[in-house]
Amino acid sequence: MNSRAAGAHAVHVRTKGSGGYPVLVSRGLRHAMPELLAEYAPAHRYAVITDSNVARLHGEALLGVLAGGGARAELFTFPAGEEHKIRRSWSRLSDELLAAGFGRDGCVVALGGGVTGDLGGFVAATLLRGIPVVQVPTSLVAMVDASVGGKTGVDTRAGKNLIGAFHPPRVVVADPGYLNTLPAAERAQGLAEAVKHGAILDEGYFEEVARSAAGVLAGDGAAMEAVVRRSVELKARVVSEDEREGGLRQLLNFGHTLGHALEAESGYTLPHGSAVSLGMILEARAGERIGRTTAGTADRLSETLASCSLPTALPPGTDAAAVLARTPADKKTRAGSPSYVLLDRIGRADGTGGWTHALPDEVVLAVLDEAR
Ligand SMILES: NC(=O)c1ccc[n+]([C@@H]2O[C@H](COP(=O)([O-])OP(=O)(O)OC[C@H]3O[C@@H](n4cnc5c(N)ncnc54)[C@H](O)[C@@H]3O)[C@@H](O)[C@H]2O)c1
Ligand SMILES: [Zn+2]
Repeated sequence: MNSRAAGAHAVHVRTKGSGGYPVLVSRGLRHAMPELLAEYAPAHRYAVITDSNVARLHGEALLGVLAGGGARAELFTFPAGEEHKIRRSWSRLSDELLAAGFGRDGCVVALGGGVTGDLGGFVAATLLRGIPVVQVPTSLVAMVDASVGGKTGVDTRAGKNLIGAFHPPRVVVADPGYLNTLPAAERAQGLAEAVKHGAILDEGYFEEVARSAAGVLAGDGAAMEAVVRRSVELKARVVSEDEREGGLRQLLNFGHTLGHALEAESGYTLPHGSAVSLGMILEARAGERIGRTTAGTADRLSETLASCSLPTALPPGTDAAAVLARTPADKKTRAGSPSYVLLDRIGRADGTGGWTHALPDEVVLAVLDEAR
């Protein structure tokens, strides 16, 4: 391994059925890609899958680095945007890889945000019943969340991420230097998941995110790298313990039951991080109402999320009953009734009686009404 890779912050994710994989975080790591691929994902050929934006900004540079290191690599692109995380993109990319002659000795490198990671990962999971994938996240959402944990998939008309597979990467190479070209609004989206990590697991980190939010939004390299490192550690710990979401991993759905409902109700015009921001505040308020969550928790969340430039009040005209009606469609629910992650307080959720809980409809409607 060259010196750049050797000095990287490394977190190990354990998986069932294999030895797991490292998540490496360090500015400049992209320049060590040939060595990292040779070490963790040796292959005859690499298919770099990326979206149109990232291809334009970083595609050729990565191909150049790989060629310089003697790796044979080609670029496969799809149009940027969540609306392209669909089966049509999956089948087109799969056909293109097959037409180019990719076989079992090939490897996918998913270079991009969470959409690319999920879509590229799903192409790798299904091509020839599965070829290796390396995740190279370039958005803050992908670095702190989507690239870690092995979930891949696509959206359908019935909902997001409803078709997919668990396909753990061989390695995750997170170079926060990529975030320099990411628009500030997209950095805010990633901060929502970082706040979530602190809220469910680590009060000190919650406070750190609040303190460093302005720096992250302004593109401060050290601030961004610190957040990526700590979030990766927390997410890696959770998914190592519970790869398939039977237990502890459910905590990562904090804010997501109502978040997904708000996203769907907006016709997916409300970005995911913004929806989760609102979902966390609402679910904390609901927890406070039923006496499970310490009073003041929702206000602290709201303050911190506001400092991350994330929304804390529902879009005007939001129909509370319509949002509630969207909740049971959440694929994580059991027996049709929506389930919620409820905090005890910032930094702690109690798993006694399960990691998720039902909430009375009146309580959900009341907090939705209150938040407009
Ligand atoms: N698999 C998981 O566990 C998991 C977890 C969280 C989210 N996700 C998925 O991730 C997706 C959201 O991820 P996202 O917010 O990264 O979306 P995204 O991939 O669409 O990226 C957001 C935007 O930023 C652009 N972009 C990415 N990197 C850039 C860079 N370095 N410079 C400039 N522009 C850049 C993209 O082209 C896109 O326009 C959703 O589909 C969600 O379901 C998956
Ligand atoms: Zn999320």
